Amino acid sequence: MLELIKISKTFNPGTVNEKRALNKVSLHLDPGDFVTIIGSNGAGKSTLFNAICGSFYIDSGSILLGKRNITAMPDYKRAYDIGRLMQDPMKGTAPSMTIEENLALAYTRKASRSLFALNKTDSEYFRELLASLDLGLEDRMKTKVGNLSGGQRQAVTLLMCTIAEPKLLLLDEHTAALDPATQQKILKITMDIVSEARITTMMITHDIKTALLLGNRTIMMDEGEIILDIKGEERKGMTVEELLTYYSKERKKQLLDDRILLA
Ligand SMILES: Nc1ncnc2c1ncn2[C@@H]1O[C@H](COP(=O)(O)OP(=O)(O)OP(=O)(O)O)[C@@H](O)[C@H]1O
Ligand SMILES: [Mg+2]
Repeated sequence: MLELIKISKTFNPGTVNEKRALNKVSLHLDPGDFVTIIGSNGAGKSTLFNAICGSFYIDSGSILLGKRNITAMPDYKRAYDIGRLMQDPMKGTAPSMTIEENLALAYTRKASRSLFALNKTDSEYFRELLASLDLGLEDRMKTKVGNLSGGQRQAVTLLMCTIAEPKLLLLDEHTAALDPATQQKILKITMDIVSEARITTMMITHDIKTALLLGNRTIMMDEGEIILDIKGEERKGMTVEELLTYYSKERKKQLLDDRILLA
């Protein structure tokens, strides 16, 4: 499904700010995998997503998506196959457009259809999708997205990212900016959408408990490397404390994470 072969990226090479953000990272995902990703601040988690999306080209290594080598493919072409959600609920949707218009935009991109060719059936489909969120948004299709709360907006962004049934969905702490109750709601919506469509998903989170609970596999990153990759029974039996202990033994330091410390 997704195959990363020894991918590396160094920022500002040859300067005092040189930073090896990804160091020969290899990873193989099976179709339908749901991988949670944890690690210290600056571990390279977002950089890994940037590399997969093509925000920059990697220095060495290869990226294959569904057997296709996308290493040299520009980001806008990869975007057809890769959906991505960021932490900031203000990104990902167009605030001055209505909920329906935002969904229509994402939908027509998938079907390569004109926005003007959308019909009543499509509109009903959007209503159905919105109703599945259980946030009452199906009755507010003409509301401008800018008037929604952060959680509501993030839910709409999730729909936009998945309406095109991407091969891969990348979630970069997409609930971190929301209040705890809304976080839980968006996580549930995420799991519902992803399992329904069986979308291969990677989710960065600072909540280790959630990381161990959701999905079928957890990887831990540190200093641009994957230092732990667990699934199955090993993962089932793992506790938050054991993970933190593993980290400090392996790396001879504490897992430093502002959000973990705050929690
Ligand atoms: N465009 C860039 N230019 C220069 N350095 C960068 C760039 N992007 C990331 N870095 C550096 O690469 C390292 C990894 O950053 P990254 O954003 O991937 O960390 P992260 O694991 O997502 O951390 P966090 O949990 O804080 O979000 C950091 O040292 C960061 O400063
Ligand atoms: Mg990050």
